[in-house]
Amino acid sequence: MSYLEALGLKKEPFSTSPDPAFFYRSSIHRAALARLEIAIRLKRGLSIILGDIGTGKTTLARTLLKSFKEEDPFEFYMIFDPSVQRESQFLALLCDLFKIKPLRQTTVHYKRAIQNFLFEKNLSDHKTIVLMIDESQKLSPALLEVLRIFLNYETNDTKLLQLVLFSQMEILPKLLSLENFYDRIGFKYILRPLSLIELQEMIQYRLHQAGWPEGQELFTAQAIERIWHYSDGRLRQVTQLCHQTLLKMVMHEESQVKEPMVEEIVHEEEAFLNAQHDTRREVTQAY
Ligand SMILES: Nc1ncnc2c1ncn2[C@@H]1O[C@H](COP(=O)(O)OP(=O)(O)O)[C@@H](O)[C@H]1O
Ligand SMILES: [Mg+2]
Repeated sequence: MSYLEALGLKKEPFSTSPDPAFFYRSSIHRAALARLEIAIRLKRGLSIILGDIGTGKTTLARTLLKSFKEEDPFEFYMIFDPSVQRESQFLALLCDLFKIKPLRQTTVHYKRAIQNFLFEKNLSDHKTIVLMIDESQKLSPALLEVLRIFLNYETNDTKLLQLVLFSQMEILPKLLSLENFYDRIGFKYILRPLSLIELQEMIQYRLHQAGWPEGQELFTAQAIERIWHYSDGRLRQVTQLCHQTLLKMVMHEESQVKEPMVEEIVHEEEAFLNAQHDTRREVTQAY
């Protein structure tokens, strides 16, 4: 019997994929989502969401997309990984994304085609163009400069490109050194790790979404406290720990995830990491 069947669940509650159906609206994520929506609706130009790995940036991006659905006049475009080297590659990628064909494949023509696209879409078709870039810490200063030029296109009261960057914290020094870019940020927000109470609610929420009946505690309060302690409230670590402890619970034919199971998983992980160090040391000594 699978672990889902054993628990009577419809879906996997702690998958690590960024599925909006499992997006718990913590105070942090709710505020980020609401303020991003406002920035886009008011056409404020540049917004930036920062957060360490696993704090929920990609899930937030997908949830934002879903919250606008196909709503007119918004057109969303998303780049999941902007790790291209050259300016011309980045411009070609944008042209592909916007489905526009420049007259010639030079940076000047690419830029002109994108400029025309933004003016036409906004002023003739009355659309709002939203470009979201995940993993934005990978954008080089040259590519940020390209984006800055597009952010300059504006009418008297609105910007023609709504740009939302989702990035790890390491982008911050880069942004601070590009004063012209930094000055254009209309909305910036850091996704901080969750508090213990919100983490508890998030776990209940995900279980409920997966089909677990309300009112039944699958994780004891002590187990959740340990998960919070070891994950530092970061959601990727939380989902992984929850998944592994649930598996352990099913294998041991228990009915609740308890504190010792969390400890066991954490120790197993530590032992695994130490074994890697030991193997590396042995290999080095052998040479
Ligand atoms: N608001 C949220 N509620 C519930 N789970 C979340 C939330 N945000 C993220 N997660 C979960 O945390 C994990 C990491 O999220 P992700 O968006 O990939 O983080 P990041 O992009 O910051 O590295 C995923 O398993 C995702 O399902
Ligand atoms: Mg991500």
